[in-house]
Amino acid sequence: MVSRPSVKNAPRLPVNVMSREFIENKFRYYRWMHEEAPVCQGGLSVMRVFFLAGYDDCANALNDPRLVRNRTTATGGGRFLFPLPKRLMPMLSSMITSDDPAHRRQRTLVSKAFTPKALGKLSERIETLTHELIDEAERHNTVDLLSAYSLPIPVTVIREMLGIDEADMPRFRAGLRALSEGFSGWTLLRTLLVDMPRTVDLVEELIERKRSVPGDDILTGLIQAEAAGDKLSHEELVSMSILLIIAGYETTVHLITNAVVTLLQHPEQFEALKADGTLLDAAVEEILRYAGPVHGTKPNYAMEDIEIRGVRIPKGAPVVPILGAANRDPAVFTNPEVFDIRRPPKKQLGFGHGPHHCLGAALARMETRIAIKTLIERCPNLRLAVPAGELKLQRLPLWHRYERLPVILHPEG
Ligand code: HEM
Repeated sequence: MVSRPSVKNAPRLPVNVMSREFIENKFRYYRWMHEEAPVCQGGLSVMRVFFLAGYDDCANALNDPRLVRNRTTATGGGRFLFPLPKRLMPMLSSMITSDDPAHRRQRTLVSKAFTPKALGKLSERIETLTHELIDEAERHNTVDLLSAYSLPIPVTVIREMLGIDEADMPRFRAGLRALSEGFSGWTLLRTLLVDMPRTVDLVEELIERKRSVPGDDILTGLIQAEAAGDKLSHEELVSMSILLIIAGYETTVHLITNAVVTLLQHPEQFEALKADGTLLDAAVEEILRYAGPVHGTKPNYAMEDIEIRGVRIPKGAPVVPILGAANRDPAVFTNPEVFDIRRPPKKQLGFGHGPHHCLGAALARMETRIAIKTLIERCPNLRLAVPAGELKLQRLPLWHRYERLPVILHPEG
């Protein structure tokens, strides 16, 4: 009789992913996972989560129909662990936490805005914007590149794509601030009770305005599609708008920042890129692999008991593929801890995988490519204004985001 290897319980991750210890040393813990526990359990705030580290395990999980985004489908319980005010739903649930057919219907509607043809028109605008921002930054020479350059590029682009007036941005920024400041203690309360409802109000106000004065923008397109074919409910429209604002606001800023940090920390690679512009696309992919800003997906809930690498994951449990770990899987990337823009091409998972693969990936790549190209052209001798060890990461689990990036644009000047 052939004995079946016994199904084991997942080992515990020996650190809290919310802690500074994890955030500062995450790559060391990822290595531990690859060596010791490619499927492990850890606590993410109040929830016990199964983490996946292996490249194939992450990619397979993101395509596995037994793992769903809508918690209610898998558990029969509420959408969230705790009942939350209805007003917050559009902030917390959207197509990224939905499954087909609702997910596909919504994604199809919005994806028109992200086709290569639609994006092609934006490249000139992004290029102009990057030059304007450098003009402004050069007035100071020593600047926080994150707030002076990396942030305004994607924020302006998504604002213009959605048709939001510049004058409304400070109010949006206040509403979204909480998302980048973390969720703990009083911040969490303020986020839930003040900032999130305020952001929902703002988006509803914006939608009303677009209904009466349509523009040439994504939001108007979504409203009209809704009117024509009853395709997006009002709630879906609000949550889609918020998802796009958050995605546009929270991610690319950190890819541009991480790109600059990584290149400055690897001067020989930076020189190679400066000498040969054709390496730019490969450099952006390698930065996404080596220092992408998003390290985990939304939770995927098990519809039934499942087994991954001999570990039992019970029905209803949340599973989070750690993209940042998958991108350093030694079984897939030779010397994964080496940053090498000439690495043979292999799809990195920094934009996720499967049905929820990042809708804005082409836009984010284009913004980052142009941002780096302009920076190289305009500030070829750029350097950090503080020792690299003083750069501080934001205290957000499963993200890789710096708080600031002080640089000197022209050290000689
Ligand atoms: C989904 C990463 C920029 C829109 C995702 C996912 C990842 C990701 C990992 C999958 C999450 C999951 O499976 O739970 C990134 C990174 C970006 C970036 C690293 C920048 C460097 C953008 C931009 C937009 C965008 C600029 C649009 C303006 C979206 C949307 C989804 C998504 C709408 C949900 C797709 C769905 O559920 O079908 N992104 N993203 N992203 N991203 Fe991005």
